[in-house]
Amino acid sequence: MPQFEVSTPQRTYAAVVERGAVNRLPDFLPAKHGKLFVVTTQDVWELHAERIRKALDGTSFDVLFFTGGEQNKRMAHVEQLAEEMAEKGADRSSVIIAFGGGIVTDLAGFLAAIFMRGIPVIQIATTLLAQVDAAVGGKTGSNLVAGKNLVGVFHQPLAVLIDPAVLTTLPEREYRAGLYEIIKTGIIASEPLFRVLADQRDAVLAQHHHAVDHIIAESVRIKAEVVSSDERESGRRKILNFGHTFGHSLEAETHYKGFLHGEAVSWGMRAATHLAHDLGLLPDSDAESILFVLDRYGPIPSTRNICGNALQSRLVKDKKTIQSKVHFVLPTRIGDVIVKSDVPPEAALKAIRKALADTQEVTQ
Ligand code: GLY
Repeated sequence: MPQFEVSTPQRTYAAVVERGAVNRLPDFLPAKHGKLFVVTTQDVWELHAERIRKALDGTSFDVLFFTGGEQNKRMAHVEQLAEEMAEKGADRSSVIIAFGGGIVTDLAGFLAAIFMRGIPVIQIATTLLAQVDAAVGGKTGSNLVAGKNLVGVFHQPLAVLIDPAVLTTLPEREYRAGLYEIIKTGIIASEPLFRVLADQRDAVLAQHHHAVDHIIAESVRIKAEVVSSDERESGRRKILNFGHTFGHSLEAETHYKGFLHGEAVSWGMRAATHLAHDLGLLPDSDAESILFVLDRYGPIPSTRNICGNALQSRLVKDKKTIQSKVHFVLPTRIGDVIVKSDVPPEAALKAIRKALADTQEVTQ
């Protein structure tokens, strides 16, 4: 199975996609490391602790538990974990092993970035969303009441280990939420990946190894390439935000409770697709294919009772908004997107309303 190089000014490292990848952990630890701290959640630890114990083969480590959930991805918890590390004797030679989903990889990465002004982190992603997106690329942070990921830094890991075998214990809803990020990758950069998702939906949903390993590896390959070309998101990396600007407004409006991140991104991609189509940027057939594939991997929770105007006013609070200009990533065909910042507010509102109308069905 493949290993991809992420090459950034901060660090060049491997993203390993492999059944049993956790066993590679010792290969990526610094030769003279100090204490090891595994940051994880109770549920991940109950399911997968043995993988870490086996990989570390007698090397001692401490486990720091974090209560999962987007609402807990807050500075207060970072401080708590840092205090715990200090009490347990952490120093600059310590290494954090982030072991969990996107919330853990973001928060533990942030902890590593700021503890004693920065110690190394190895990311071991246990959800599909973290494997194909959150754990790769060095974005770390926490949420504010005012919005998602409004505090954070880029802190590239020593390595990212991605084992598709851990996904068998993932709840089906979370697995599908991760698939939306892979659909995103297809829409922004790879028509062949999008076609695999369209043509092999049943195999993908049933987690057949050949299908799931292929789509994860392709997503990681593309993400590694995008991050390597633009670590700090001053240009090309912006394309990874397709569906996120609209999606973040939905997450914030529902207080990070109603939708998993991937589900909000699915809704956001729908809104962005309507917007691109309405603006004459995206041909009918591509817009139809995108909406069709999003439906085939759905449904997402109902957006009934969510107000379009409220979502629109949240767009300007997104951290990607600069001097009140919202930067929309819009598809021009499957496999290519542009970033547009001069979208009339009424066009954005119309797209929001269309996406809301598409997702009224009560499902949860
Ligand atoms: N999740 C988007 C990025 O890593 O840039």
